[in-house]
Amino acid sequence: MSQILSVQGSPRGERSHSRRLVDAFLQDWARQASGRQIVPREVGRAAIPPISEAWIAAAFQPAEQRDAAMRADLAFSDQLVDELLGADRLVIATPMYNFGLPSAVKAWVDQIVRIGRTFDFDPGRPDNPYVPLTLGKRALIVTTRGDHGYGPGAIHAARNHADTHLRTVLEFIGIDDITVIAVEDDEYGGQSFADSYARAERALAELAGSF
Ligand SMILES: Cc1cc2nc3c(=O)[nH]c(=O)nc-3n(C[C@H](O)[C@H](O)[C@H](O)COP(=O)(O)O)c2cc1C
Repeated sequence: MSQILSVQGSPRGERSHSRRLVDAFLQDWARQASGRQIVPREVGRAAIPPISEAWIAAAFQPAEQRDAAMRADLAFSDQLVDELLGADRLVIATPMYNFGLPSAVKAWVDQIVRIGRTFDFDPGRPDNPYVPLTLGKRALIVTTRGDHGYGPGAIHAARNHADTHLRTVLEFIGIDDITVIAVEDDEYGGQSFADSYARAERALAELAGSF
């Protein structure tokens, strides 16, 4: 059995290109075999809280030493981490906002990068003290941009801190099988956007069979 955790990052509903592309991909993917499950995690249209001082204190306290208040501070984060660890596939739909991730998606990231749960820290390993714990998963990032030239090697690649940031985070916690599909030129519209969108649709249709 295969389960996708579907993280939707756009605050837009029907007008969101990333949301629409991922919804179509998920339907396609679910049709390919019986027993495939999708766990939706709304982020862009929800209020994922930023982490707080209490959250940080609780997260860095060993689990067996947390009191009831600390456990409550981490309850929602634990739920988000459980969703991630319970799925063997992760699909994230996110726009690029101001060259990076929408703050809601960043809030989700901050909630799921958890010491002792999705990664560990072992100072006894001098070459690399970080131990990824989120293993055996595959990820797809569908990202949309108003402008163009943000892909690997393209003219504005160095300004892209959106899907590249997610890649860094996912690899850090242990997810290194990552596919990125991008749509560009939303703000220009016209043929260049239509072509970019159609390319993404084709790539997603192809991926649905093997993801
Ligand atoms: C607040 C805001 C900031 C944006 N910043 C960028 C940007 O830095 N670079 C870019 O190419 N597009 C930018 N855009 C355009 C969006 O990435 C684009 O419209 C995208 O399609 C939105 O995703 P969605 O269709 O899934 O909602 C921005 C849009 C908004 C609303």
